[in-house]
Amino acid sequence: MSDGTIITVIGAGTMGSGIAITAAISNVEVCQVDVSQDQLDRAKAYHKKTMARNVSKERMTQIEADAALARICYCTESCRSDESSFAIEAATENESLKKKIFASMVETYPADCILATNTSSISITSIADAVPAAADRVIGMHFFNPVPVMKLIEVIKSPATSQDTLERTMDLGESLGKTPIAANDHPGFVSNRVLMPLINEAFHAWNDGVAEPEAIDGIMKLGCAFPMGPLRLADLIGLDVCRDIMLVMHEGLGHPDKYAPCEKLVELVEAGRLGNKTHWGVYDYREAAKTA
Ligand code: 3HC
Repeated sequence: MSDGTIITVIGAGTMGSGIAITAAISNVEVCQVDVSQDQLDRAKAYHKKTMARNVSKERMTQIEADAALARICYCTESCRSDESSFAIEAATENESLKKKIFASMVETYPADCILATNTSSISITSIADAVPAAADRVIGMHFFNPVPVMKLIEVIKSPATSQDTLERTMDLGESLGKTPIAANDHPGFVSNRVLMPLINEAFHAWNDGVAEPEAIDGIMKLGCAFPMGPLRLADLIGLDVCRDIMLVMHEGLGHPDKYAPCEKLVELVEAGRLGNKTHWGVYDYREAAKTA
């Protein structure tokens, strides 16, 4: 049974598809939108696989899994915009693209619909500035990868975000089974301001010959109780994403050296080694990908 909440998730990549299935499991109806039909097909396959795993682990029955999948529609253009109380943008991390999407969201969604972005580093204030008439409804909902597993939503408010928008976003986060925690709009927010310099430092340790990646990750996993080492995590996040977030902090926080991306990280990105998504980053997953 749906609880009556309907949301639209714009973008069906790793984060958007993760948000959609998380919502569907939590009884929320979802319109999953992407301009690419291939991307929508990949999202649908990921959703089916995630639900099959939940059934095989006896977390839910087949009937419940089918009901959750039936709550998601896959569209190249939003089909439930009139009914959506939230539109969550999870498109590519490109500021001008996001501003364009937000300009069209203002036209498409009802006047009380919250306009959220899953950006990991782009300024919420700057996105809100692109839609002045709706700036009070713009907010950051920063989910973490893998979305169905990670408990946090970092909720980012700009100075223009209204209290009502903040409260409704916190409520939605809780109804998705997550723990929403609010922070102000600063480069990197809290999560990436703390996490990315750590990942960057792991690249420096590798670059300086302190140890090889397996040893760096092993030390951090066993010594600091990390679920995965920082270099393996960088592969999961995407090395290009890590570099870009470092650049946002480098430009935004005003310390000339502190946030500069390590040359080793930049080198791998320029070589096209982006991590899991290209099956090669710090680690080489190409053989495993062939087998899979
Ligand atoms: N989708 C759905 N479920 C997934 C998944 C995915 N993509 N990846 C893993 N899982 C599930 C597995 O199915 C498994 O479920 P089970 O309970 O049914 O067995 C469970 O998670 C554990 O997975 P595994 O057994 O394969 O492996 P691990 O125990 O090593 O866990 C991990 C994998 C959950 C990814 C864990 O290593 C972890 O928590 N890593 C840290 C992740 C992290 O820090 N994420 C934040 C990144 S920062 C970010 O996203 C912000 C951005 O702005 C950069």
